[in-house]
Amino acid sequence: MMYITIDGPAGSGKSSVAQRLAKELGFEHLDTGALYRSAALLWLRYGKDDFFNMLNNAKFELVNGTLRMNGKALGDEIRTPEIGKVVSKVAEMPKVREIITQKTRELADEKNIVVEGRDIGTVVLPNACVKIFLVASVEERAKRRYAQYQLKGINIRFEDVVKEIESRDRIDSSREVAPLKPAEDALMFNTDSLTLNEVVKKLKEIVLEKLKKC
Ligand code: CDP
Repeated sequence: MMYITIDGPAGSGKSSVAQRLAKELGFEHLDTGALYRSAALLWLRYGKDDFFNMLNNAKFELVNGTLRMNGKALGDEIRTPEIGKVVSKVAEMPKVREIITQKTRELADEKNIVVEGRDIGTVVLPNACVKIFLVASVEERAKRRYAQYQLKGINIRFEDVVKEIESRDRIDSSREVAPLKPAEDALMFNTDSLTLNEVVKKLKEIVLEKLKKC
């Protein structure tokens, strides 16, 4: 089994890049942000009394490339500004991280898989064969996220998107457990002013070289 990790801040392009890279390499793909967003959904739905039980008992599976929680495919309901507002606060709780880290490792076990998130190369899969850390300016990341919201018909002001990104960056980078930071052996890659195709092409070349040595 071979692991490729892709970490980076909100809107750095992780999801699109990870998905395409996985497809081209014939690997599976796991977006751990979706696991934290699902945790935030449970938090908003059930409140703090039932939350930890619900999260502990939640069954996550990858079925034909789609992530499911308790048998139901996770879709747009976890990609709303409401979830965006609370997800980093939920993800900051050490117990939440412990549960999701364990579930991520189980999902990745015995697979050739690209796993993306914030702490995958540092904490979740430190022995991964290839580690990538994507960066991009706040302006560029906010533009991408704004375009995604618009495509989904979600009405939000650009400056509020900038605020969401900046606030999550701050919480994600400064939390005590598993903060957002590159692993020492991660390859730093700046996606500013590159198209998705350009990023995937370059990274694929680099990854194929590195995979030979694993
Ligand atoms: O918005 P974007 O797609 O960039 O973020 P995401 O990958 O969906 O992750 C949403 C939030 O979950 C992040 O802002 C983090 O607070 C949290 N997260 C985390 O703490 N650790 C991970 N491995 C993945 C996500």
